[in-house]
Amino acid sequence: MDSDMLAREAVAARELAYAPYSGFRVGAAVQADNGKTYNGCNIENASYGATLCAERTAIAKAISDGARHILAMAVVGDSATEITPCGICRQVISEFTDPEAPIWCGTRDGLFTRRTVRELLPFAFTPADLASAAGSRENG
Ligand code: THU
Repeated sequence: MDSDMLAREAVAARELAYAPYSGFRVGAAVQADNGKTYNGCNIENASYGATLCAERTAIAKAISDGARHILAMAVVGDSATEITPCGICRQVISEFTDPEAPIWCGTRDGLFTRRTVRELLPFAFTPADLASAAGSRENG
């Protein structure tokens, strides 16, 4: 799976966006550790706060299909400038990726820039932080 294919998957997913409120369509695709690719779109809601971003839709599909690690991701919106994942998505992406995993961020014209999880969410709170807290509790 190369980045072009991941980008194409994200563009295809954007077509399925359910975005009647914002009119802003987003598509995402992830390459998972099980050899499969999953894509997703944003899914809005009349109760706006219940909206699901494209990135989390794609990740939910991957994890609920048995994947446990994400190797790379692409995301694309409807804007002339590149979009990058929102803050909530950055936290969710960080749970399942290595810090150096590439996140390809695209413009509506199909220009994708390589970012990394570390760039998008420096000093992330990770599963390792919980593990080290458990260790210090056990040690008194
Ligand atoms: N959105 C995403 O799907 N991903 C992002 O990274 C940014 C925002 C969606 C949420 C909402 O449906 C619309 O874009 C406008 O915020």
